[in-house]
Amino acid sequence: MNKHVVMSGMRPTGALHLGHWEGALKSWLLLQESAVCHFSIVDWHALTTEYQDPANIGGNIRQVLLDWLAVGIDPEKSVVYLQSAVKEISELFLLLSMMTPLGWLERVPTFKEQQAQLSDRDLNQYGFLGYPLLQTVDIVIMKADTVPVGEDQVFHLELAREIVRRFNGLYGDCFPEPQPFLTPIPKLPGVDGRKMSKSYGNAIYLGDSPLMVGEKIRPMVTDIRRKRRSDPGVPEECPVFALHKAYSRAEQIKEVAAGCRTADIGCLDCKKILIANVNEFLEPFRQRRSQYENMAVNDILATGNLRAAERARHTLAQVRDLMKI
Ligand code: TRP
Ligand code: SF4
Repeated sequence: MNKHVVMSGMRPTGALHLGHWEGALKSWLLLQESAVCHFSIVDWHALTTEYQDPANIGGNIRQVLLDWLAVGIDPEKSVVYLQSAVKEISELFLLLSMMTPLGWLERVPTFKEQQAQLSDRDLNQYGFLGYPLLQTVDIVIMKADTVPVGEDQVFHLELAREIVRRFNGLYGDCFPEPQPFLTPIPKLPGVDGRKMSKSYGNAIYLGDSPLMVGEKIRPMVTDIRRKRRSDPGVPEECPVFALHKAYSRAEQIKEVAAGCRTADIGCLDCKKILIANVNEFLEPFRQRRSQYENMAVNDILATGNLRAAERARHTLAQVRDLMKI
């Protein structure tokens, strides 16, 4: 049986947290064992929104790379590369832009949504409109058939399939139609109870030290019913419990829930169990990170860049041929 070809990417916007683990990295690791995987740090995509202040992108690239390696993305198994190091992507972006109707890009919902959300920035750029086409190129230049993404990306994948169909129809079969490999958007709350997100400042990072994990979880808001130690609570209403469900063992989850409802356990003891479990979960990542920190991770990226560029060159030669250019 032919192996699936996987491609996915992340923008280098900063260190990764448990939300990234639940929403993406977990399934990347799974796919890495059975498919031909390509994982790209998409720095050109970062520029579409950060073009006014790109100073942090370089540092963030290293940060993301270290986080990927720390969780176990294995550069021997997967091609790990930097988007901007594969110049073939820019040529295919140009070629496909010739046959991509403006209307298809304008009706992608994230276009208007992001403009509204980041209203402090001017996002009326050609590059920003082209974001989903650039993403399409990331995918098709590797001839990927499987794209692990969150549900927020299904429209981008739909556009990618439309462009693939249009290309194959106009010039001849070249690209497979990429299917999303959906990762449920994690219901993981941050330490303030809202969705875990860097911009809310409520995230537990994959690189947090044991001390930091404790300092973040100890002051967490709990179920408001538990004003005093003797007040029973409703665990389902408590963000600490939501984290327990993700990182504690089944019997601990049961014990904590029962103890919360009867006020047999105090919130501080409940949090202590969670702190220990989150730290236990992060420990293998810390170990691997410290190994990689002493290695030349730039070389790892450089090797991945070469492998990615070789595959891209192949595809592009075929495209040029089909487009008679
Ligand atoms: N748009 C994706 C996001 O915001 C990132 C991305 C860029 C991507 N190129 C990709 C994801 C290719 C999958 C495949 O998360
Ligand atoms: Fe939340 Fe645990 Fe306190 Fe219950 S005991 S309110 S689950 S922290």
